[in-house]
Amino acid sequence: MSLLFTPRAVGPLTLKNRIVVAPMCQYSAVDGVPQPWHAQHVARMALSGAGLVVIEATGVEAAGRISWADVGLWNDEQEAAFARILRDICTYSDTPIGIQLGHAGRKASTNPPWIDHGGPAPADQAWETVSASALAYRDGWHVPTALDAAGMDRVVEAFAQATRRADRAGFDLVELHAAHGYLLTQFLSPLSNARTDDYGGALENRMRFPLRVAQAVRDAWPRTKALGVRFNGSDWTEGGITVEEAQVFGRALHDMGYDYLHLTSGGNVATARIPGDLPGYQVPFAEAVKAAAPEATVMAVGMIVTPGQAEDLLVAGQADLIAVARAVLDDPNWGHHAATALGRPEALPLPYERAGVERW
Ligand code: FNR
Repeated sequence: MSLLFTPRAVGPLTLKNRIVVAPMCQYSAVDGVPQPWHAQHVARMALSGAGLVVIEATGVEAAGRISWADVGLWNDEQEAAFARILRDICTYSDTPIGIQLGHAGRKASTNPPWIDHGGPAPADQAWETVSASALAYRDGWHVPTALDAAGMDRVVEAFAQATRRADRAGFDLVELHAAHGYLLTQFLSPLSNARTDDYGGALENRMRFPLRVAQAVRDAWPRTKALGVRFNGSDWTEGGITVEEAQVFGRALHDMGYDYLHLTSGGNVATARIPGDLPGYQVPFAEAVKAAAPEATVMAVGMIVTPGQAEDLLVAGQADLIAVARAVLDDPNWGHHAATALGRPEALPLPYERAGVERW
């Protein structure tokens, strides 16, 4: 009996297996509105055989998008477009669909990766960025404005509003994006947070704004739906977030009522050296957080490429769920193929089954 294909409760949601399609920006939106490309991408992922699909980092306000081609969820048109996508998909797939809500902070206002390597947007497409402190992500990038009290209140409210919109649009799950050097990481990490007020310095202070956002999202999201959070186990740079800090942050989020903790790393320091081609290179962060909060549901991601690798790490208790990104782009039937590899035939959608052969 494969553990990967044993159903798993995530808060109020039961997943048919433990494979999650990780959020993946498509950089294909117009004014934050998802397009037909997003509809086919989400549909393809929903049919991959995974137990859950999480849609890409979605800006809670216009200034919170990474690039000008990112999706957002701050207006009615965006909400309606997401609702349409979900309404169509649920006519042929029962895979739950979640959305990752985020704010890019000082890493906002960029081009998509295929234009100028995703560097800062040109003047006619750029906007003012905000962060914990007025420290640019790297040389030549926009220098952000440090958020003041009113700015922090605005961002907290934007997260709450986007969460309500996600509920109305019909999402089954929200994942709060507190990872990869975006705004919430910028507060958490001493490398991007030089504040001397209650929001900087000791970990308790650096967590204060991310936890305010997390609480606002928790309050705005129904308890009948699942809620998770993605955060870093490391900045991969001396003086950055430590795994011990991630354990404390994870415990606080679990205690706040977050249904899963999703461990990733990096993205806050442009020069960090990340062993990103090592199989399972971020799994130790999931394992460490699992050790600190054994009753929490913990998700591992990063170079989990083969079904056997996924099965082994679940059996070893290093995580409860695994997320896959590039491998499922490469093989959009990754979940079905994993089922076959682990001796558990998984039904393809009926029109794809061989049952129709006699009718050719
Ligand atoms: C990503 N990743 C990512 N992460 C995230 O938290 N929000 C996002 O919107 C995106 N966008 C994104 C786009 C694309 C095209 C890729 C390939 C990746 C990171 C992703 O979720 C995952 O953590 C990493 O890719 C590592 O997992 P894999 O690819 O080794 O399975």
